[in-house]
Amino acid sequence: MMTTLVETRGLIKQFSQGFFSSQKTTALDNVTMSVKPGETVGLVGESGSGKSTLALSIARLLQVDSGQIFFSGDDITGYTANQMRPLRKELQFVFQDPYSSLNPRMSVKGILSEGIRLHRGLSNKSEIEDEIAHVLTTVGLGKDDMRKHPKEFSGGQRQRIAIARALAVEPTFLICDEPVSALDMSIQAQILNLLKMLKVEKNISMLFISHDLAVVNFLCDRAYVMKSGQIIEQGGVDEIFSSPKEQYTRDLLSASLLAKSN
Ligand SMILES: Nc1ncnc2c1ncn2[C@@H]1O[C@H](COP(=O)(O)OP(=O)(O)OP(=O)(O)O)[C@@H](O)[C@H]1O
Ligand SMILES: [Mg+2]
Repeated sequence: MMTTLVETRGLIKQFSQGFFSSQKTTALDNVTMSVKPGETVGLVGESGSGKSTLALSIARLLQVDSGQIFFSGDDITGYTANQMRPLRKELQFVFQDPYSSLNPRMSVKGILSEGIRLHRGLSNKSEIEDEIAHVLTTVGLGKDDMRKHPKEFSGGQRQRIAIARALAVEPTFLICDEPVSALDMSIQAQILNLLKMLKVEKNISMLFISHDLAVVNFLCDRAYVMKSGQIIEQGGVDEIFSSPKEQYTRDLLSASLLAKSN
């Protein structure tokens, strides 16, 4: 029985502040965290706290300076692009901005079939179309939407397409980096409900990033609170939400409650 699906140990990542500066920003400062199979784990923190850097590092889209990343028990920290290829199926990413994350020149069918061909090895056209129709229905779109292009959809619908693209390859682990923060409040709720449904019905493990603790409380089982590249608080969401230990977490909470009441 595998106890953790994803794990990081002591991750450190620094960025140079600019070409002419010798100063460095420590975006990840000894980050140790894990996600168990079937868990939805939240990552919360103010802007610049290192959330995206951690997500990109886990997905090996960014090279860390030191520390280790494990996926299904394998140390993938030094994996080459070739070694990562089979893992690209298991680990999918949904980005914040549904306007820039979908290729505008491709139809929805084209966007979704890429992953299905590459990662699931399907090549039969009608089989692929059936899969696309199925996954579009799962995310609340219609099968005829596959003929359209991203520009024909609203922001919320585009985010559904991005989620469908990720789901189409049948990943075990989904990273969602602020997937609703670019959307209107009412649309945010719809997408969060969709993710909650996927979590329950598909049993996908998730790392869900948000600066809003209330959103994390709604969707996640556990959460890590990040500040200046460090995890400063962690635990079950009920515990963090009802009795935050750190002042920083309390501030995040009151900011989020404020956002709700406005
Ligand atoms: N490619 C980069 N080059 C230089 N500095 C970077 C780069 N990416 C991130 N940083 C810096 O690293 C720190 C962490 O950034 P990161 O994007 O991980 O924060 P975040 O928590 O995702 O913030 P946000 O909520 O605004 O998305 C910030 O100080 C940021 O300026
Ligand atoms: Mg970010």
